[in-house]
Amino acid sequence: MEYKVKDLGLAPKGKMQIEWAEKHMPVLMSIRKRFSKEKPLRNVRIGAVLHVTKETAVLVKTLKEGGAEVYLAASNPLSTQDDVAAALVEEGIHVYAWRGQSSEEYYWCIRRVAEAEPNIVVDDGGDLHVTLHTEYVDIARKIVGGTEETTTGVIRLKALEREGKLLYPVIAVNDAYTKFLFDNRYGTGQSTVDGILRATNILIAGKRVVVAGYGWVGRGIAIRMRGMGARVIVTEVDPIRALEAVMDGFEVMPMSEAAKIGDIFITATGNKDVITKKHFELMKNGAILANAGHFNVEISVRDLEEISIAKREIRPYVTEYTLPNGKKLYLLAEGRLVNLVAAEGHPSEVMDMSFANQALSIEYMAKNPRLPVKVYRVPREIDETVARLKLESMNIKIDELTPEQKKYLESWSLGT
Ligand code: NAD
Ligand code: ADE
Repeated sequence: MEYKVKDLGLAPKGKMQIEWAEKHMPVLMSIRKRFSKEKPLRNVRIGAVLHVTKETAVLVKTLKEGGAEVYLAASNPLSTQDDVAAALVEEGIHVYAWRGQSSEEYYWCIRRVAEAEPNIVVDDGGDLHVTLHTEYVDIARKIVGGTEETTTGVIRLKALEREGKLLYPVIAVNDAYTKFLFDNRYGTGQSTVDGILRATNILIAGKRVVVAGYGWVGRGIAIRMRGMGARVIVTEVDPIRALEAVMDGFEVMPMSEAAKIGDIFITATGNKDVITKKHFELMKNGAILANAGHFNVEISVRDLEEISIAKREIRPYVTEYTLPNGKKLYLLAEGRLVNLVAAEGHPSEVMDMSFANQALSIEYMAKNPRLPVKVYRVPREIDETVARLKLESMNIKIDELTPEQKKYLESWSLGT
């Protein structure tokens, strides 16, 4: 079997991590049980580019149990949990991932997945989809379908679709309610705080935390930071979201104003150059910079390197930059996703829903191999199934509509 990981000797440790995640992912485990009986993915070759974490391990083991052969590479050069990668090799997954890859190594791994000629592809961020559409067009044309895990990847796929260049149908898993409402908001909210705390161990209470972007991720970070006593400032470019942040009780201002007063800056926009040279120059001595958006383009590391006269790693995942006037700025996790680099990513309970959507969307693709080529939402039945199974696993029951209520909700004739 082909694979490339850091150290197979780490497998026993990784196995226990996976076991721990399995105990906290009841929805995905119930899908695994059904997959094990029905084998809906028999003869399917799946190529996946995901953060190689214990939660991803639960997903790929589920796909394998459903009959698939799985090839897996990392969706970020710094997010792989090496013990998990090793354990997955022992489970018969073709893993090409290790923590601390160079850009060349990162794409080398993605190319191994593309060259496996998968029938179904699973991506987080779009690097696999884009590699297939640019370097492996003949392989891409034969792909039955794909899925996409995150906002940034969906944006890239919709751009491909708009330009008429999309080569296979894709389900935007990110856009399922049981994904973005929980993963992007509460998952990133908690794990971003976790990453910042593991890296710095600073007190949050009383600090001015600047959150750039008030989308699902930004909202989650802002509410969790407020919950820990931070004075939260939001920056936005969308007037509706800015207004929402104001009415949610946050201060809203441009980054050029926030830069002067913030203690901690967290970007969550999916956009580039949100914090640049002109902002670094305004910041206070000791300001901490972290990114929760998919790519490392939100905080301009290039600008920071350019204006600094010295740089050192003062703690793991904390780089101290010294500016010519002696001011120090602290960049976490090299400007990459702080929650996956300095911590372990989202808790398993949240990934349970995201990856249940993945497993069911992959099954849907396998059962509907001739879908017209476009970007699809997750079918409503899948979204509702995931919510119902999650509630069941939490032992929470809800009311049901009576036939009279159903009729009332469908009618126009009944008023006061
Ligand atoms: P979203 O589209 O809901 O929100 C992004 C927000 O940023 C929007 O409101 C937009 O107006 C705002 N924005 C854009 N440019 C801006 C700028 N220059 N200044 C201030 N605000 C700006 O997206 P989302 O679901 O919140 O995702 C945000 C990013 O986080 C994406 O890159 C996504 O892929 C990533 N993500 C990361 C994780 C993680 O584990 N770290 C999890 C989910 C999503
Ligand atoms: N994205 C965010 N958190 C994650 C996790 N724990 N596993 C895989 N992908 C993630």
